[in-house]
Amino acid sequence: MPNSKDLLKKMTLEEKAALCTGASSWTTTPVERLGVPELSVSDGPHGLRHVLDANDLIAKSVPATCFPTASCMASTWDVELIHALGQSLAEECLAQKVNVILGPGANMKRTPLGGRNFEYYSEDPYLAGQMAASFITGVQSKGVGTSLKHFAANNQEFQRLTISSEMDERTLREIYLPAFETAVKQAQPWTVMCAYNKLNGTYCSENYKLLVDILKNEWGFEGFVVSDWGAVHDRVASLKGGLDLEMPGPKDQRVKEVVNAVRAGALDESILDESVRRILNIVFKAADTKTGGSFDAASHHALARRIAAEGMVLLKNNGILPLKDQQHLAVIGHAAEEAHFQGGGSSHVNPTRVDNPFVELKKIAGDSELTFTAGYQAGTAFDQPLIEAAVNNARSADVALLYIALPDSMESEGYDRPDLDLTPQQVALIKAVCAAQPKTVVILNNGSPLVMGEWIEGPAAILEAWMMGQAGGGAIADVLYGKVNPCGRLAETYPLRLVDTPAHINFPGGNGQVRYGEGIFIGYRYYDAKQVAVQFPFGYGMSYTTFAYSNPRVSASSFKDVDGLTISVDVTNTGKLPGKEVVQVYVHDQKAGLVRPPKELKGFAKLALQPGETRTVTLALDFRAFAYYHPSYQQWITENGEFDLLVGASSADIRCVQTVTLQSTLELPCLLDRESTLREWLADPRGKRAFEPFFQQMGPQMQATFGGDEGEGVGMDVMDSLMDMPVLGILHFLDKSIPMSPEEMVDDLLRQVKKNIRAEAGLQNS
Ligand code: BGC
Repeated sequence: MPNSKDLLKKMTLEEKAALCTGASSWTTTPVERLGVPELSVSDGPHGLRHVLDANDLIAKSVPATCFPTASCMASTWDVELIHALGQSLAEECLAQKVNVILGPGANMKRTPLGGRNFEYYSEDPYLAGQMAASFITGVQSKGVGTSLKHFAANNQEFQRLTISSEMDERTLREIYLPAFETAVKQAQPWTVMCAYNKLNGTYCSENYKLLVDILKNEWGFEGFVVSDWGAVHDRVASLKGGLDLEMPGPKDQRVKEVVNAVRAGALDESILDESVRRILNIVFKAADTKTGGSFDAASHHALARRIAAEGMVLLKNNGILPLKDQQHLAVIGHAAEEAHFQGGGSSHVNPTRVDNPFVELKKIAGDSELTFTAGYQAGTAFDQPLIEAAVNNARSADVALLYIALPDSMESEGYDRPDLDLTPQQVALIKAVCAAQPKTVVILNNGSPLVMGEWIEGPAAILEAWMMGQAGGGAIADVLYGKVNPCGRLAETYPLRLVDTPAHINFPGGNGQVRYGEGIFIGYRYYDAKQVAVQFPFGYGMSYTTFAYSNPRVSASSFKDVDGLTISVDVTNTGKLPGKEVVQVYVHDQKAGLVRPPKELKGFAKLALQPGETRTVTLALDFRAFAYYHPSYQQWITENGEFDLLVGASSADIRCVQTVTLQSTLELPCLLDRESTLREWLADPRGKRAFEPFFQQMGPQMQATFGGDEGEGVGMDVMDSLMDMPVLGILHFLDKSIPMSPEEMVDDLLRQVKKNIRAEAGLQNS
């Protein structure tokens, strides 16, 4: 790899500015004179959307494997499978001479209405971070780059190009950033794509705090930041904000703006140089990989089928599944004939082939008779005769398989969903078919949750088959017939009603802003805290076998935060079929200085077990598993105390609990000042030490002033309410009995605290 420092020196100002602006819709600007090649990028994330004409954004792309979308990927809870998917994507990139695939998406599913939720993993930052990191390491292990997107707080499509996501620091750090943080720290994506939206009033494309302070400096991101397509508003401001490459190009005007700004002294050339250095590093890294050749479409299709089957979630089953000897199957639903397997927008892949669900079912169903009726049309039209034909079909069969897909246009980049409902025709169809045929299985294709209250009682079984990718038709048959024992688990909560969802009264915002009023309480964090009943909880999914958990144990019952600990549990397959279980570990902080969610996912493992087999799962929990972000300290902190480790099969199905004691090793800065309350003084060990002698001295006086007749005259416990009064305020009530002014007194105490801190640090005489 040529030395980018040397190259930088040889580049003219114009060449440097040009390198930071795309040459086409999908390529960077080469510098032929110096042997700097172009870099080619194409959309992902669940398949390659490689458009041959570099100046066309939306033309039909070359055929590529359409894998299941991120909702399904995350529901596999299988990091190795996602790694394998990443490797296959890379092979397709290499074949098409694409250097960087634009994915994965690591944004949180703040509301199930988000139009691009199908492209995102989860409502939980830990799970999303693990998925994104595996995806990236998979792709990059083959010498192809990724673009982790959309950084950050890109959680809706309404006014997506301009809206400001408004949230407090703790919410940002604990919910909206950690998936990115994990992916960057564990996997070093070659590029990170900034989001279109603003974060707290500043465009992400110009957001120094986000792109420089946090991403590059705090997390150590080594690659370059690329704009989302068209996300740059002010090129010079964006360079200053840490945005290295603007896409798409060409944009001569932008190049001129940068050149002029440097010449006029409005942009420090070293800022431009830093962006150039970052881009050059990646351009040459990419050039090290040999591209071209072909990929094995059949094996990628097979992998897509495996991932789809492993991600499908069995939501309900009264025993009808797996299918066995049914002679006559009524196959109902447009989606049985025309697979619904991906969403709309820039992630839309031109598949190498598509499995027809009906045909695939027939292959596995052997001699059984299959009769098809459409049940509903592709769109939203209401068509009673189609329902009647479906009912007749269902009634005459042993079992009805109802393939229900949300209409194609419902879930897409560019707009959010209006509701969580199936179409009126589909609801009526499910009800009518279930009334005529109790042995009905509903198979769903959608990218994010549906509400089911109106019809959930009807079917004997419900399979969530997601946007299942091009091979999903076969995967459905695999699961229905038990060739694959269902082992997907929900990566997001299915609410009972849209109005129950955490962001409901703060979504989608307006007047240019969306307020993240629910704060850190999204997904199960919210439903748990509010004790709101849900349809299906986070982490939930059924199997054709059963699992028992036993013998939970921890490596230490008392531990230092920096050491972390491990928790182990034995899991036994207690049923008759081989199957896979997803063991989930949640952490509950018994007592914290700030409010925390009742539980948070901090570890998981998927394991395959034969009937009767027992295996031990051991999961490591580190500092961050116990920490929370403290906005006053501006850092992740731990606190001494008890934590419950909850091991379960879903967020609502906890099988065993271990309680451990954490010793914090942090030495936090002292935040006491003139405004600090009595409670704050006593909570800070150094404050307490300084305050106590004073307290002893003043105690009787305080008791006389505030505790006299135990507050009878005002009907309250005055002493108790003093705890949240600033010490300065208390002193003002006592000023007659103190030797100096209250202000001097507090300053004296603060000086004492400082002295103690210096003494502790051995700095007394320095
Ligand atoms: C999307 C990105 C995508 C880019 C290029 C944008 O509109 O938000 O996810 O990678 O277009 O197609």
